Amino acid sequence: METTSEVQSVSMPRIGDKAPSFRAMTTQGEIVFPDQYAGSWVILFSHPADFTPVCTSEFITFASMEEQFAKANCKLVGLSVDGLYSHIAWLRTIKEKIEFRGMKNVEVKFPLIEDITMEVAKKYGMIQPGESTTKAVRAVFVIDPKGIIRAIIYYPLSLGRNFDELYRIVLALQTADAFGVATPADWRPGDDVIVPPPGSCGVAQERMAGKEDMHCYDWFFCTKKLDKETVLKTILRE
Ligand code: BEZ
Repeated sequence: METTSEVQSVSMPRIGDKAPSFRAMTTQGEIVFPDQYAGSWVILFSHPADFTPVCTSEFITFASMEEQFAKANCKLVGLSVDGLYSHIAWLRTIKEKIEFRGMKNVEVKFPLIEDITMEVAKKYGMIQPGESTTKAVRAVFVIDPKGIIRAIIYYPLSLGRNFDELYRIVLALQTADAFGVATPADWRPGDDVIVPPPGSCGVAQERMAGKEDMHCYDWFFCTKKLDKETVLKTILRE
């Protein structure tokens, strides 16, 4: 019998990689990934199983935020190692019977991939045998409009995700791209952003002398204001 330390090598996509491609059947018909999503951000995420409590709370929360993500040009795609009929039955139950934190009659409109063979889950390193050999962990891949993986998070089976944080990640990445900046700890739109490090001693000197419109904690750590309205007007669609 195979122990977890002997398990075959698994592919784990990395930040900066092209998102591995696949064709799959989903609750919204067949998808061709990531080609079909070119031009959009997409969050590809896995969950362990249909008809389980943590996953149900997650789907209700994520589906309730789908419009919010759509305004940030970000689509959602789910996956679990379950069949299509199980997915359909579970999503019907969620809509018809479950109320969670005031969210009810929630229709999951984004595609949920059936992956009984684990083909897609294995491509994305979603099967982590120390946690489960048959269920996907709670993986999150944030993929940009060019099909490049920009952020990855893995959670264990027992831990429900923070979907406000996923939204924050999408906005922060888009802000970094649009304004050529980085975002500090706990950044939210409206907070100061980090400007790229100085490229010369002279620029470092100028920054420390306060000649630029920045706040410098030290020569290598300078921030500038970027107001919320400018950020949201640039990255959100109405
Ligand atoms: C859940 O979604 O509740 C769950 C799924 C698999 C293992 C543990 C919890």
